[in-house]
Amino acid sequence: MPIDPKPDHYHAKADFGSVYNQPDPRPYYRTLGMLGYEIPAHGARVFDRLLDEMGGREGKTVLDVCCGYSANAALLNYDVQLPELYEHYASLEDAADDAVTELDRRWFAARRRRDAVTMVGLDVADNAVRYATSVGLLDADVVADLEAAPPDEEAKKAFATADLVGVTGGIGYIGQKTFQAILAAADEPPWVAALSLRWVDFSPILETLDDLGLVTEHLEGYCVPQRRFAHEPEREAALASLHERGVDPALELQLGAHCAELYVSRPPDAARQRPISEVLGYLAAG
Ligand SMILES: C[S@@+](CC[C@H](N)C(=O)[O-])C[C@H]1O[C@@H](n2cnc3c(N)ncnc32)[C@H](O)[C@@H]1O
Repeated sequence: MPIDPKPDHYHAKADFGSVYNQPDPRPYYRTLGMLGYEIPAHGARVFDRLLDEMGGREGKTVLDVCCGYSANAALLNYDVQLPELYEHYASLEDAADDAVTELDRRWFAARRRRDAVTMVGLDVADNAVRYATSVGLLDADVVADLEAAPPDEEAKKAFATADLVGVTGGIGYIGQKTFQAILAAADEPPWVAALSLRWVDFSPILETLDDLGLVTEHLEGYCVPQRRFAHEPEREAALASLHERGVDPALELQLGAHCAELYVSRPPDAARQRPISEVLGYLAAG
């Protein structure tokens, strides 16, 4: 069944619901690739560095929220860069539908990093997460819309062990309720790293994370392209929202693309030890 993930403020955003939940990822990568979708590459760089800062990858679990077909897992746990991921799925375009999973599974197995972290994926798109699990990208998956209903016991168990919660391309689809549910289930408070479109108001989520005892920092100067605007109404709506929020749209105008900022939330002790500008400032420099 196609998913229609469109909260109100996404009304002018191109609708990719038809590719989010297909039996395999080829339509997703084909469609998003045409718009230069690149946010998973930025996300993986951030998550990788944060894992270092948390003492290394060993024994760590990453919960990828709105994981889709788990591009973030592919980039974090495999010797694979985003352009190769696009090339790989393009090379599978002519493969028989029932052969794709096995070809993909083998492709990833040959590229698995020895220091892979445990990956848990959460998404409302059941086909996408189950596909990602079947090819080995996810160690556990949760199919749920936590904006609509609270998590069941199994989902809570999957969230409990998360050390790092990451989001690319998902803020706006999900909001306060999702973060509340995840953090309420956590054994220990995880770190949260969210790449969020600049025209989306992150402050309600920030307040929720604050209420739950995490300290959130906005990485000043960090602004990375997510993907090109799909069409003129989408561009106009994004620029209008940026204007409303008082954000200078210079980069969006220059690149003709949605751009994302970065919020990192940590337990107070970790936040006190080193400001996020020291940990990730080098990513903001360019
Ligand atoms: C742009 S895709 C991002 C996928 C992946 N993170 C990436 O960067 O390639 C957005 C994802 O959000 C998921 N999504 C939309 N609404 C959701 C909800 N309420 N709960 C969980 N996932 C949701 C969609 O199914 C889709 O997989």
